[in-house]
Amino acid sequence: MIKVDHVSIAYGDEAALQDVSLRVARGSTCAIIGASGCGKTTLLYALAGLIRPAFGQITIDGQPLLNVRTRTSLILQDFGLLPWKTVRDNLVFPLRARGLAALDSHNLVNQTLKSLAILDQADKFPGALSGGQRQRVAIGRALVLQPDLLLMDEASSALDAITREHIQQLVLKIWQQNKLTLLLVTHSIEEALFLGQTILVMGRGRIAATITNPWFGQETAADPVSRAALVQTIRRQLHEADV
Ligand SMILES: Nc1ncnc2c1ncn2[C@@H]1O[C@H](COP(=O)(O)OP(=O)(O)O)[C@@H](O)[C@H]1O
Ligand SMILES: [Mg+2]
Repeated sequence: MIKVDHVSIAYGDEAALQDVSLRVARGSTCAIIGASGCGKTTLLYALAGLIRPAFGQITIDGQPLLNVRTRTSLILQDFGLLPWKTVRDNLVFPLRARGLAALDSHNLVNQTLKSLAILDQADKFPGALSGGQRQRVAIGRALVLQPDLLLMDEASSALDAITREHIQQLVLKIWQQNKLTLLLVTHSIEEALFLGQTILVMGRGRIAATITNPWFGQETAADPVSRAALVQTIRRQLHEADV
């Protein structure tokens, strides 16, 4: 269980999060949606242990979060790949940094690249890949660390529509297979509906609404009318939260 209690974070005088509280059950998924600048990335960084809240507390599985946690992986908005390292070395690097033996790293990296269907790209540099392939490498780099908590920041927003759908399906599969807790930030209502069991609507440093999403993981809705109604509700909540 992730517990965020009354967390406030400011950059200088500017408040980025104001009294934010939330719960995410272990093994569940949560999509955080909100307008640009509403504090989504700040919340994710706080959950990753990269920013310490000025007020409030975060606990993960009962442990107060005071530092970076080894079993948390974060995928950044711009992928965060090292351009001067090959695909393979981008995955080897975090493992070696954590002291894993060379042979073990090699096997784990191959296995991960294979499961993401990019083993044939292993010796290329990130600059030579498509956006979707780069996204897979970023996911691979997060997954080799065998996280129990995966945090993703607008992971598919830079991709074209078809590639984005493939990545969304891949993320769903990864969540199912690895039994991890998934928290993703998005500005797409469609992505939130597909990947969030719970959807949090954010605006101006606050959580404006918490939605239990009946359309999670469904590519085609059995009842398109009530799905469209939920899209409208979220759209309205997004606008109301942003003023
Ligand atoms: N490093 C920073 N220094 C100063 N202000 C920042 C910094 N990072 C973010 N902010 C401000 O904090 C607010 C929230 O930013 P952010 O968490 O990045 O929002 P989002 O990810 O939802 O777009 C914005 O007003 C932004 O301008
Ligand atoms: Mg952001």
